[in-house]
Amino acid sequence: MDRYVPSRSRLLTSSRPLPDFDVVAARGPWLHLADGRKMFDGSSGLLCVNVGQSSPKVFARIEQQFTRYSFGGAAVVQPHIQMELRDRLCHAVGRPEDSVALVTCGTLGVEVAVGLARNITRVRNGKRRGDILTSHLSYHGMSVLTLALAGNHARRPRPEDALGLGPAFPAPYPPTHGQAERACDASCADEVAKAIDSRGAANVAAVLLEPVNGTTGGAYVPPDGYLRRVSEICRERDVLVIHDEVLTGLWRTGTPLASTHWDGAEPDLCILSKGLGAGYTSVGAVLVSPELAPLLSHDDADPLPAMGTMATHPLQAAACLGVLDELESMDLDTFTARGERLGESLRALADQAPVRDVRGLGHLYGVELAPDLLWPLMAEAEKRGVFFYPFTGAGHPRSEGLVVAPPLTSTDEDIDFLTAALSDAVTALHPNG
Ligand SMILES: Cc1ncc(COP(=O)(O)O)c(C=O)c1O
Repeated sequence: MDRYVPSRSRLLTSSRPLPDFDVVAARGPWLHLADGRKMFDGSSGLLCVNVGQSSPKVFARIEQQFTRYSFGGAAVVQPHIQMELRDRLCHAVGRPEDSVALVTCGTLGVEVAVGLARNITRVRNGKRRGDILTSHLSYHGMSVLTLALAGNHARRPRPEDALGLGPAFPAPYPPTHGQAERACDASCADEVAKAIDSRGAANVAAVLLEPVNGTTGGAYVPPDGYLRRVSEICRERDVLVIHDEVLTGLWRTGTPLASTHWDGAEPDLCILSKGLGAGYTSVGAVLVSPELAPLLSHDDADPLPAMGTMATHPLQAAACLGVLDELESMDLDTFTARGERLGESLRALADQAPVRDVRGLGHLYGVELAPDLLWPLMAEAEKRGVFFYPFTGAGHPRSEGLVVAPPLTSTDEDIDFLTAALSDAVTALHPNG
């Protein structure tokens, strides 16, 4: 079949100055371009292609389901494949007794988590509980509600369109919690307590946060003890904790969930998306702890939030099972060591003048740059055959840089290629270091 090359002008899509590769094939982390070049995707698509492209395991699962039936919503056929997915997913993330709601993307996962949290707290603690508190450095999706709730200042709606909502507490990171005299630590969680108390706990359903920051600030990692303290503060006030692990979930930060890095940080509800579909399917999953899920079927409970026509699509579930097959066949020791090596090589860049800071965990890092160097560095990296996701930051002056997030199935050689290309690109910007 001839390649159809349509006109671009009427497709309403990203307005960012991102490269637009003409891709004819893709294998693992590599994009094969029409002009014969190969490009390493150091961004895993939009932080979602976690098991690389063209996975035979994912293909086998989709093919198997395709030959059975291609659609069957939960009200039409019994959701066997979705039940299998629930079991596999919950075991994979160490929450085997959780209940799961499936939806079609991260944003809808957040929306459904908000609905479930309100239902739960209203059955348990009274009808006023509706507020959802978020941090000033956060992104929770692209719907009217989630944009209004979150702190990502580049994407915040105009005040008159924000439904009267907005972020409620500073995140424990320099751009929104700058403290000249001392670094952020676990006591930054006191800001969460202040935010709940100023609303009145009886009005608050949940605190919603990214346990490790994604693209808004560029992979900030919370101070030790912070997430545990947030959970304690919320528990003391009968407020639920929702972790948005849309980006970080399923080993992106080296562990099944980002919260797994810290004791006592388990949330009541947890949202997964990008790493579950891994770019093969659009999916979101909301996990609800076994202590709370029974309240959703209590006589006084409101109806469950609607999850959408495509919420329990069998091909979606099949693709997710294939992704879990891939993730569970990784040699975890090798994978962990590779993430550490990636981190070490990136941290070594912090000695070079254009780089201001390197932070992150596992296969997720933020490389913060001196002002005005982001796009020149993207161009230098691209010349060397590698592409990253830009973050355009927060604070004044804005912190900006690259999110480095290769597929989790990258090999040692792949990671060495990526770090060498990025290091050369940084040197090219500033030859004298
Ligand atoms: C932390 C976080 N939450 C929610 C979303 C929204 O997910 P989606 O784009 O799949 O709707 C994103 C997407 O980037 C995200 O990074």
